[in-house]
Amino acid sequence: MCGIVGFNGHHEAAAVLLDGLTKLEYRGYDSAGIAVRDGSKDATIVKAKGRLDHLKEKTDNGRSVIGTCGIGHTRWATHGEPSENNAHPHCSDDGNVIGVHNGIIENYQELKEKLLRNGYTFYSETDTEVAIKLVDYYYKKYLGTPVDAINHALVRIRGSYALELMFKEYPDEIYAARKDSPMILGVADGESFIASDVPAILKHTRTVYYIGNLQMARVGKGEITFYNLDGDEIEIEPKTIDWDAEAAEKSGYEHFMMKEIHEQPKAVADTLHSAVKDGKIDLAGLGLTEEEIRELQQIYIVACGSAYHVGVAAQYTIEDLADIPVRVELASEFRYRHIPLAQNALVIIISQSGETADSLAALRKAKEKNLKTLGIVNVIGSSIAREADHVFYTMAGPEIAVATTKAYSAQLIAADCIAVYFGMVRGRITEEKGAEYLDALESLPKQIEKILEDKERLQWFASKQSNAHDVFFIGRGMDYAVTLEGSLKLKEISYVHSEAYAAGELKHGTISLIEDGTLVISVLTQKALIEKTVSNMVEVKSRGAYLMGLTTYGNYDIEDVADFTTYIPDTDPHFAISLAVVPLQLLAYYFAVSRGLDVDKPRNLAKSVTVE
Ligand code: G6P
Repeated sequence: MCGIVGFNGHHEAAAVLLDGLTKLEYRGYDSAGIAVRDGSKDATIVKAKGRLDHLKEKTDNGRSVIGTCGIGHTRWATHGEPSENNAHPHCSDDGNVIGVHNGIIENYQELKEKLLRNGYTFYSETDTEVAIKLVDYYYKKYLGTPVDAINHALVRIRGSYALELMFKEYPDEIYAARKDSPMILGVADGESFIASDVPAILKHTRTVYYIGNLQMARVGKGEITFYNLDGDEIEIEPKTIDWDAEAAEKSGYEHFMMKEIHEQPKAVADTLHSAVKDGKIDLAGLGLTEEEIRELQQIYIVACGSAYHVGVAAQYTIEDLADIPVRVELASEFRYRHIPLAQNALVIIISQSGETADSLAALRKAKEKNLKTLGIVNVIGSSIAREADHVFYTMAGPEIAVATTKAYSAQLIAADCIAVYFGMVRGRITEEKGAEYLDALESLPKQIEKILEDKERLQWFASKQSNAHDVFFIGRGMDYAVTLEGSLKLKEISYVHSEAYAAGELKHGTISLIEDGTLVISVLTQKALIEKTVSNMVEVKSRGAYLMGLTTYGNYDIEDVADFTTYIPDTDPHFAISLAVVPLQLLAYYFAVSRGLDVDKPRNLAKSVTVE
């Protein structure tokens, strides 16, 4: 992630920068640094590994760094380990250009080689050092202005960046450039501010400029000039930040979807804990008696959209752990179809909102047929929660982004708890086994956090692939279930056509759509099925597919087949898709962001579908 700040004014810069960085620490905190210039003197650069507090200590809360113009950075390492050496700001060999950067320079290796050939040396492992030295190279080569030099560099750089640069010969200015990474600028009382996100400058100004992709800014004291890639001056209209409740609740995230993706560890943990009593999964509180659970002959899971996908996954878990036949039905089909319903059946309706018209109608149909009903519902007091015989509330909290993420994950964990509990009550799994499963489930929140720490790689991959026209997802067993969700996430917010296929089924027709470069995303978490899915990957690869593999750490052979592999922590295969879904959500998110779309409010969709 990384957060950047900049200040050019009349007050001491260091304090303003450190305060801004504090607001951005959610974006990364493995090291931080500032560079401050006092008129034409050399800049002072101070960096510290670890939390921002270390930098504050090192600078006596900024008091030891003198100057009114400066830039700052809080880092979440991508290229190069967290260390003082790799921390930003970075500078050119002679200190001519100093800069900070948020984003990823994809072709930094190639650029580094070019600079090495031109006599540059490198002290860090970062892509940022390369970008800064490239600007220095063009500055000296063409003897132009900073804007000319930055323009030349931007034409060569591939990737994403929010860059702030200071030039020795322009001691009272900061230069900024942006592509795909967030950055805003603001002006107040003869002073200028730059930041990755609004909260960092909100206490100084509510008038901000949203700089566009491939645009630059020359930031003086209280005046900002914007330029396009040709170096021509452009006008950007300032916007007044009028924080409504909705925006404030984003807690610094650019979109609710990203915020909610990050809330998944909590949603999963809270939902799980609601089902644990005295160290055991115990759902007696739902009101189903043990006798009723033992006598169950059939479960129907009925839902729409992502909740239906949870049902597809739950089918595998419940059949496997509780040994009850499960049928998963789309609510819009279930409500109109004649189904010879088994007696001693339980109908589980899964719904985030508890208001989806088809799901509610399906619930009413089941009740008419005198079947027991259980709602897995997020919204307390919603229609489905009120009308179902029994309710398992997911503890995801309010979900605002239309594309569900944390509610899906909470529903999944609720279904896992039902599978384990029913399995124990029915004597299909021992209490010891139940305890082992609980251990695995309790590890999931931390494991999800770990996946979230590695999201920059997916951002990079998504930015490269976001022009795709068709994407296919394949997997077997529960991996197939999660591909359904991954594919839906992608298409609903990025508008890229995608399909999910059971890996063995692709060759029955759909494989004819695979062409040179078609992206095929393969999920491989089900240990017993990995080899089979790898064979299907080879089949599509030999027809030109570009393959992404999503598997657990340890399955490194996948890299022999896949062009890009991403890993999730190992867990019991029954629960692995709670982890696998996270990179798929991130991928969809970054596809949509790269394509400049309204992530939280995709076209034509609504969060709660109350018409059939
Ligand atoms: C809409 C939402 C989906 C959701 C589905 C079912 O299509 O966009 O995210 O999965 O409705 O909604 P429910 O509230 O019943 O879970």
